[in-house]
Amino acid sequence: MTSGAGCNFPNLLAPGRIGTLQVKNRVLMAPVSTNFATAEGEVTPELVSFYERRARGGAGLLILECVNVDFPRGKTGHTQMRIDSDRFVPKLHELAEILHEAGASAALQLNHSGGLYGDRSREALKPVAPSPFLYGKLMIEAEEASREEIHRIRNNFIDAAERAALAGFDAIEIHGAHGYLLAEFLSPWTNQRKDEYGGSVENRTRLALEIVQGIRKKLPCFPIIFRISGDEFVSPERGLPEDFAVLKAERPEERNLPGRGLAETVEVVNLLKSAGVDGFHVTAGTHRLPHTFARRAQVEGMGMEQGWKSYLAGEIRRACNVKTVAVGVIRDHAVAEEILSRGDADFVALGRGLIADPDWVSKARTGKPVRKCIGCNSCVQYRSGYGWKLRCAVNAMAGREYRLGEPETAGKTLSPRKVLVVGGGPAGMEAARVAALRGHRVTLAEKKPVLGGSLVAAGILEEKSKIRWLNEWLQGELAALNVELRPGFEVTEEALSGEEFDALVIATGGLPESKRLPAIHNPEEKNFFAQATELLEGTAAVPKGAEKVLVVGGGLIGCETACYIARKGFRTTVMTRRGKDSLGADMDPINRYETLSTLFKLGIEIRDGATLVEISPEAVRYENGNGETLEEPFDFILFAQGMEPDRKISQKAEDRFPEVYRIGDCVMPRNILYAVYEGFSVGNKI
Ligand SMILES: Cc1cc2nc3c(=O)[nH]c(=O)nc-3n(C[C@H](O)[C@H](O)[C@H](O)COP(=O)(O)O)c2cc1C
Repeated sequence: MTSGAGCNFPNLLAPGRIGTLQVKNRVLMAPVSTNFATAEGEVTPELVSFYERRARGGAGLLILECVNVDFPRGKTGHTQMRIDSDRFVPKLHELAEILHEAGASAALQLNHSGGLYGDRSREALKPVAPSPFLYGKLMIEAEEASREEIHRIRNNFIDAAERAALAGFDAIEIHGAHGYLLAEFLSPWTNQRKDEYGGSVENRTRLALEIVQGIRKKLPCFPIIFRISGDEFVSPERGLPEDFAVLKAERPEERNLPGRGLAETVEVVNLLKSAGVDGFHVTAGTHRLPHTFARRAQVEGMGMEQGWKSYLAGEIRRACNVKTVAVGVIRDHAVAEEILSRGDADFVALGRGLIADPDWVSKARTGKPVRKCIGCNSCVQYRSGYGWKLRCAVNAMAGREYRLGEPETAGKTLSPRKVLVVGGGPAGMEAARVAALRGHRVTLAEKKPVLGGSLVAAGILEEKSKIRWLNEWLQGELAALNVELRPGFEVTEEALSGEEFDALVIATGGLPESKRLPAIHNPEEKNFFAQATELLEGTAAVPKGAEKVLVVGGGLIGCETACYIARKGFRTTVMTRRGKDSLGADMDPINRYETLSTLFKLGIEIRDGATLVEISPEAVRYENGNGETLEEPFDFILFAQGMEPDRKISQKAEDRFPEVYRIGDCVMPRNILYAVYEGFSVGNKI
């Protein structure tokens, strides 16, 4: 079926229009910065292949990641595309041409980072912003932009739009959201100016208006989309508790300044509409407060509901009679269809959804199961946190399209082999999937009665339930590929007798750290302690009558276990050797904020700087940060002190195989990103 008519998602697959641009369906790719350009801002083959793959998957319009209009001070990250000079036009033109050939329309998002420009190097310039606040992760004080600087930046945006049109792009998106320069001007919170660019809504919108008017003068019919946060969600109550150190870096007086809410956004949109904007891409939040809801509203953690902020697009669409694009945690076709059919938006945009599954749109036609983004935010953490290239925990191909062929086509094997994968966690399942896609005959053995491995415990909290999507999808693919599944099967020499395999993949995962247990008084009375993972997997339980539970360990597993237990009504305490500020430090910042918010809301007590000495059924003895030894009664103790590799596969069994590979947590316990990548790599190699 090629048109929307008669299919399950008639709105989603119907053509749409933004200004003069006809888009073949209602699905846009939301801008996602990739770090795939060069340090000089040039387009690379890897950037082209990444977007080309998404274009082939059927998205109507790709809004490419934010491109810098003013180097260096306008940059976000060190390997961002640039459009501040004509010399970038040839490669941008080639990129647009390839995306058109692949069947999609393409737009560039134009941006100036404003106060969020951050460069650790000594010779770095100060960021420029409407007012001199502290900005970004580095909390650098920005310079107040002079009028001349504002005019120069305005002209840069206009020139950049001209270049985008010249390079053959079909539209531009002006980035007026997420706390970058234009958003800083629009916000009463970060714009404290007293001149014609500050104060009233009209004054704060002036820079954006001048940019739109300038572009309209030069390009009367060129489609302009404006990205705006419908609500900045900046309010003092929406941060973590005050004693949480990450907030200490911010100035307390700023926390009491309100941001821009929906009512004011409606005024801004009306002004921009009359200047000639064709559509509004309605997002929310701001980068500027990394540990608050404002950050989470922009790129959500796992706990946010699908399409939760589309109401903002709906309010704006109805109040201003403009075309809107809804974005944010849209993962199911049905959710997207519902947003369109209830009139919240003319288009939906997917960022992470298309990183995880570039074929999302074509799957709306074929009905094939979608590999849904689970919201782990590895894409954000490693890209913006560490400065790496964009990577996806569920789709190892993302960003590697330029050097890896699709397993089922380019990777097809000419000599099918018999492969045994041991371990049914994410690494093992991905290895089995990819090997089977390539044409090998694959058997997957798992000691436990169910598949999923670490995904089972990781997805136990309701807020983390999106992790279950990956487990379900992998299992569905294995079944469709006729991988022979052997749950409840322990691999031993005897168990394998009479069977021949060409290759063995060991993906046996991790086990709770055993060396760090304290002295246990009466260890034979096992009913007063367990490993947190045993509890989460359902092989251990808090005994009847217990009230006070201690969780030892303040990392991801400890914090999540504490939330799980506290929700069940137990009085819960977390004990950590480190400071309170290090709670959940092994999580990505957005999911960490979500989990810690829950932890604090549930009233979970924290014993920080504490070293456990001894436990008994009666009491726990520990040293506090001052070297004092204290005793406290707990009814049950759960250990969450890290994981170690599970290497327990018999050497004799292993010796039977001519080729042996080890992947995932059984090499070194890490997260889903590494498990899936290593599974993919081995599956692709055998
Ligand atoms: C890795 C990554 C990079 C992003 N880069 C940009 C960007 O360059 N410009 C922008 O406006 N939003 C950016 N965003 C936000 C997305 O466009 C989108 O609004 C957000 O991820 C929520 O939508 P999703 O749930 O479909 O991913 C980025 C998000 C991610 C995950």
